[in-house]
Amino acid sequence: MKAAVTRAKAYLKTRHKSVRDAMKELKLDALLLTHPPDLAYLTNFTGDDSVGIITQKDFFLVTDFRYKEQADLEAGWLKVSLREAKMADALAKAIGESKAKRIGFEANFTTFGQVNAVDHALKQSKTGSEPELVPLEDVMSNIRKVKDDQEIDLIRKSVAIAEEAFEAIRDDIKVGESESHIAGLLVMELRSRGASDSSFPPIVAAGANSSLPHYRPSDTLVQQDQPLLLDWGALYKGYCSDLTRTLLVGRVSQKIKTIYKVVFEAQRAVLDFMRPGVTTMQADRVARDVIEKAGFGEQFGHGLGHGIGRDIHELPTLRKTGGEEELRPGMVVTVEPGIYLPGEGGVRIEDDVLITHSGCEVLSSLDKTFEGCHIE
Ligand code: GLY
Ligand code: MN
Ligand code: MN
Repeated sequence: MKAAVTRAKAYLKTRHKSVRDAMKELKLDALLLTHPPDLAYLTNFTGDDSVGIITQKDFFLVTDFRYKEQADLEAGWLKVSLREAKMADALAKAIGESKAKRIGFEANFTTFGQVNAVDHALKQSKTGSEPELVPLEDVMSNIRKVKDDQEIDLIRKSVAIAEEAFEAIRDDIKVGESESHIAGLLVMELRSRGASDSSFPPIVAAGANSSLPHYRPSDTLVQQDQPLLLDWGALYKGYCSDLTRTLLVGRVSQKIKTIYKVVFEAQRAVLDFMRPGVTTMQADRVARDVIEKAGFGEQFGHGLGHGIGRDIHELPTLRKTGGEEELRPGMVVTVEPGIYLPGEGGVRIEDDVLITHSGCEVLSSLDKTFEGCHIE
């Protein structure tokens, strides 16, 4: 068995510093880590049902017997506190030990029940002056949205696995096969190439089903002269990829041909435009302008894209309203314009893009030309 890691690796220390700097600004003595991807980002620990507590000096993990050996192997430097009964009591004990008074928690990932229970347990535990629980919004997500080199390498590998899985099943995609069967083949090929899972349940949508952006595969069969939309990704060592290709089976209608060309052009325009300093809303606007000019603005009802990383949907969000921010080197985002015609079908093309110092790098390279996506 591998020896336990005894010290945090260098890239983890850099991440800890970012979090501790943010904690100083927010005047927090401790931050509760209740979202497993946040905890894994800071520790490499991948168990469930566990909570981390980071302070300026210490890093505690409250877990239980099932994850004890795993914690030693993945992050032997953590101060592990084993809970025997309620998580809230174990957390209150660890917080008491840390002497933290002002404790932040991520409001989007901590349940009301958890907050109440910890608050109650802290009040019972007589740690001197009363600790204060402070709700936070997206502190960890904002730190995680710019990826370091280690993360970028893992996302590259995740994209490569997703692409190879698609290529492996390309010849099995035929008229008469069901959406569910194709989704199952994709998952099998992802896992056989080293992915621990799909990054989300694959979408395989035949014919008119492809106008539902987040369709779930069914027993519908692939049909001649129809679009077939596939949206899939790998989860590799904790990191997601997220790709979409719309295949054109046989001779699709003129309308589908038209929207394919418009979506292709919208995506190309954005990829030519993206660079540091461009805002998320400006990027969305470039794609939307192409689609609106072609008369399909109403049929592009979702945002242009989103960050990917340990979560399939992360910051930044690329959309037309609701706040904007500048793209920065190290962000990895999807670019996924789409046009959806209810009853007829939809087209979406999605690639994963790294923002670089001088522009952007498209991490995915599967053919997306009209001709390249045609199958007999
Ligand atoms: N696969 C979900 C999405 O594209 O956002
Ligand atoms: Mn997708
Ligand atoms: Mn996506």
